[in-house]
Amino acid sequence: MNDNSMTDAPEIGKKHPQYQIRVHQLVKSFNGQRVINDLSLDIERGRINIIIGGSGQGKSVTMKHLMGLVKPDSGSIFVDGIDIVPMSEYKLNTLRKRFGMVFQYAALFDSMSVFDNIAFPLREHTKKTRGEIKDIIRDVLESVSLPGIEQKFPSELSGGMQKRVGLARALVMEPEILFYDEPTTGLDPIATHNVDELIAKTNERLGVTSVVISHDMASTFRIAHRIAMIYGGKIVEKGTPREFRESENPTVKDFLRYSGIMGMGGDI
Ligand SMILES: Nc1ncnc2c1ncn2[C@@H]1O[C@H](COP(=O)(O)OP(=O)(O)O)[C@@H](O)[C@H]1O
Ligand SMILES: [Mg+2]
Repeated sequence: MNDNSMTDAPEIGKKHPQYQIRVHQLVKSFNGQRVINDLSLDIERGRINIIIGGSGQGKSVTMKHLMGLVKPDSGSIFVDGIDIVPMSEYKLNTLRKRFGMVFQYAALFDSMSVFDNIAFPLREHTKKTRGEIKDIIRDVLESVSLPGIEQKFPSELSGGMQKRVGLARALVMEPEILFYDEPTTGLDPIATHNVDELIAKTNERLGVTSVVISHDMASTFRIAHRIAMIYGGKIVEKGTPREFRESENPTVKDFLRYSGIMGMGGDI
């Protein structure tokens, strides 16, 4: 946990074998208020990287930076050795084709069927035929354990099912990096468990790099390979789930205690 990888300057233009995204000394203010404060973070290739922290600590803003949706005041964000901070919107759009996103709210189009929701990016960004699209959607719905629901509308689905359709929509573009912003917020424990399983399964099956924002420690301990905790716009701790459980950092200990994880006498 005490290695210096997060503070070392990344080697520019070089794809790092272990780290797919390297954030270096990021700073961002909104209306004179600093919300990201010298944040450095490495995202491991092919692994489930979870960013935890309380609300308002800068998790979503950090993720938006990683996706190139927000420009920092200073600092760099290397994706496979290339700094995306100075990139034009045109170049960022090309880069984002390698990304999949699953948001806190499923963000499905209510007026479209599940089929049309999932077909949307395929019609927009690929030249696939109707037949190909149909096959892809059948397969992807099976992979998220929702076979045959093509003709349903979002309003007919539970929150957990909507999240899974959101994931299906991201998966059809075969992303290299999947971003999830609080994918289990608002779900009951069983739906949460199902979404967790799906994140883990997707990561394993496709070998994608997964970046997950969460404030749910039970979920995090279940599926994370690497955890980073953000507090006041800074990374205050990072490591494996085991290292987090054993962390002496008071901010981490408080967070775990208030999450109901510690002091329950059991191994999580
Ligand atoms: N576009 C914006 N304009 C002004 N303030 C913002 C904007 N986006 C986020 N903030 C502020 O930045 C802080 C961190 O927000 P956010 O990253 O969304 O927190 P969270 O950790 O809950 O995801 C909050 O105080 C929020 O109000
Ligand atoms: Mg957020």
